[in-house]
Amino acid sequence: MKQSTRNADPKYQQIAAKVEDLISAGTFRAGDRLPSVRSLSRDWSVSVTTAIGAYSLLEDKGVVEARDRSGYFVRPKVIAADRLPRRTRAEGAKGAPVSISSADITEDVMDSTCAPGVVPFGAAVPCDDILPTSKLMTLYHSVIRSEGATSFQYAMPPGREDLRIEIAKRLIECGIAVSPEEIIVTSGAMDAILLAIKSFCEPGDVVAVESPTYFGILSLVKELGLKAIEVPVLADDGVCVDALEEAFKSHPVKACILQPNFHNPMGSVIPTDSKRRIVELAEKHRVTIIEDDLYGDLFFGAKRPPALKAFDPGEVVIHCGSYSKALAPGLRVGWILPDSRYHRVKNLKYATSIANATVSEMVVAAFLKTGGVDRHLRKIRKILAQQTLQIREAILREFPEGTRISNPKGGFVLWCEMPDGFDSEKFSVAALNRKISIVPGTLFSATCGLRNLFRISCGSPLDERSQRAIGILARLAQAQLDGK
Ligand SMILES: Cc1ncc(COP(=O)(O)O)c(C=O)c1O
Repeated sequence: MKQSTRNADPKYQQIAAKVEDLISAGTFRAGDRLPSVRSLSRDWSVSVTTAIGAYSLLEDKGVVEARDRSGYFVRPKVIAADRLPRRTRAEGAKGAPVSISSADITEDVMDSTCAPGVVPFGAAVPCDDILPTSKLMTLYHSVIRSEGATSFQYAMPPGREDLRIEIAKRLIECGIAVSPEEIIVTSGAMDAILLAIKSFCEPGDVVAVESPTYFGILSLVKELGLKAIEVPVLADDGVCVDALEEAFKSHPVKACILQPNFHNPMGSVIPTDSKRRIVELAEKHRVTIIEDDLYGDLFFGAKRPPALKAFDPGEVVIHCGSYSKALAPGLRVGWILPDSRYHRVKNLKYATSIANATVSEMVVAAFLKTGGVDRHLRKIRKILAQQTLQIREAILREFPEGTRISNPKGGFVLWCEMPDGFDSEKFSVAALNRKISIVPGTLFSATCGLRNLFRISCGSPLDERSQRAIGILARLAQAQLDGK
């Protein structure tokens, strides 16, 4: 390791330089807790005052940060605006509504994301160690024991009342006040979005979708025979509100599907003022917003950002959510607030899947009732923030010059942009040959655009294997840029 200290420097500067060297060498990474002042003083035989002086110096340089009663932590590098992904060239209001085209590679990518033995940068799920698996296993046994045969009967729509009561309580944190009677439990967020769209859209209708957006939303829009107008998502502020307004003015937009908080794949949050403005615009232009707030609980900051629904005077926003990312994707428990379309959605639920898995509803209700969920959420937010920061820094360190990367404020995915001409589909095939999954940008576009971008999931830690995988990806990217 390079030594940047000089014996002539004051002691606290020498200690600060040593700590900085350890950070540069990757011994301590973004978000890591640094040795306490006391252990620094003991291990390096300096006074406590010198150790504090060293940390204060690093704090002034922006290298470390002090957290209340928790000590000093490595500060994530600030990403300059010119390293964030650029606004996409979605045609928005200028272009005609399009039919969604899906990339030929979609099925291979989906198959690979969770394949055994593959480094799962493609899978937008927290890894097993992060999910509350043992708690859920215990609850499975206890709820079945206590409820007996009911566990194996249909839990007819709108779903179990005890679960709806708990969901209603948790929605308060999103700024939403509803009674349990206004909630319909769904089989995950995708089921909720499907029911929302089908409750008022017909084939051929125009919907505004974000660019980029989660490919599941694009597949739904395609399968339901709707036409799409793409509206760009900005790296910091989520959907571009001016472009959205332009789309509302220029096209007969019936619905608009938005991810307000910790957007997949951008990681952005729509600022509160913009949320308010979007709801006003939608009301004015008689557009119904379908809100997908799946990642809202996974914030890196101090508190949960509000949902769009929090600003709804009534009937403008259909709010959808699920516990897939915060508790467990396989439980398939989500919800929808359909407002006046309640009976339509309930009937659609009967028609499309009858009911959800009863035991899943029981387990989630039991978990929410125990109060252990908040502790679990506090824990996974920290872990996911840490993993995301560390993987982002590793990419910034290893990838070729010209790589741009998102700066997520929550969730656990990164959106990476390579120079124009880069082909992320070819890149993903090459990566898969080396047993690494990523998701190419074309899947996040209604028209198979965004070819020079790709998504990396940080649901698993940056360990030796994934560190090596980032090195391989960086070399594959460089080779493609060099035309090899
Ligand atoms: C933005 C977004 N919406 C919906 C879903 C699907 O959620 P669920 O598993 O709850 O159906 C995902 C899954 O990755 C997602 O990222």
